[in-house]
Amino acid sequence: MFGVSTLARVVGEVRRDVAAARDRDPAARDVGPVEILAMWPGVQAVLWHRVAHVLHGAGVPVVPRALATVTRAVTGIEIHPAARVGDGLFIDHGSGVVIGETAEIGDDVTLYQGVTLGGTGFATGKRHPTVQDNVTIGSGAKLLGPITIGHGAKIGANTVVIHDVPPNSTVVGNPGHPVRIDGKRPEGPDADWIHLPDPIADALEGLSSRIGALERAVAELGGPNGADGNGTPPAADVRPLRRRRGPNPAGG
Ligand SMILES: CC(C)(COP(=O)(O)OP(=O)(O)OC[C@H]1O[C@@H](n2cnc3c(N)ncnc32)[C@H](O)[C@@H]1OP(=O)(O)O)[C@@H](O)C(=O)NCCC(=O)NCCS
Repeated sequence: MFGVSTLARVVGEVRRDVAAARDRDPAARDVGPVEILAMWPGVQAVLWHRVAHVLHGAGVPVVPRALATVTRAVTGIEIHPAARVGDGLFIDHGSGVVIGETAEIGDDVTLYQGVTLGGTGFATGKRHPTVQDNVTIGSGAKLLGPITIGHGAKIGANTVVIHDVPPNSTVVGNPGHPVRIDGKRPEGPDADWIHLPDPIADALEGLSSRIGALERAVAELGGPNGADGNGTPPAADVRPLRRRRGPNPAGG
């Protein structure tokens, strides 16, 4: 069931996980590998997940879940034993991280505390995100559903992501939207999320001007004694639409 090759693979993976902590956590730069293994909850969680994943893949009952449960109690990081995790995953600080059953994580991914790779409801089958290589996910970010986070993407702290994320992009906000793609601000209709087009206001504006033109035409047809008796049409009572620019007085 388990051979020397499995052991060698797990040892290699653990080495890369420790190296990842030293590379990506400034606080771990001068710390030895044994201390990192003993003190870094993110490294411990990934280590125990690798063991649980191998056992789960081998069909061993109960033990993988038991390992995941104890790891969660100790580190605050919950990784389902079936989740696929690539090499060099680094979970900084750790607490509150949840990685769901059908999540897939590529190589050299960094997660901060409070990240959720979760599902959106009670669907079965593939329902958790796929995170490609070299992605960084900021603290508190929620990535929900069977979406794909393209390689090299950065997800800002507290972002909520429910759609695919293009490679090499930076995504922030709720709902998460790209603010950089390949280092440049995205162009097109998604570029300005504050001053969105407002088709309803445009339609009302069009109707207002048509009504104004009709009132003038009716007043002219009425001749010099039309409308108010002096030939002057009553002023159209059209409320001004809210300003297209600047803050919405209704808030939001
Ligand atoms: C998103 C992040 C990775 C920066 O990526 P980046 O590609 O270097 O992007 P920038 O810093 O140039 O920011 C791009 C834009 O997004 C905005 N932004 C950055 N992070 C944001 C966030 N978390 N929420 C909302 N907006 C954010 C910036 O203000 C900037 O806005 P602008 O286009 O109006 O100038 C970083 O801000 C972040 O959130 N990192 C997570 C760090 C973390 O969780 N640390 C925990 C340590 S304990």
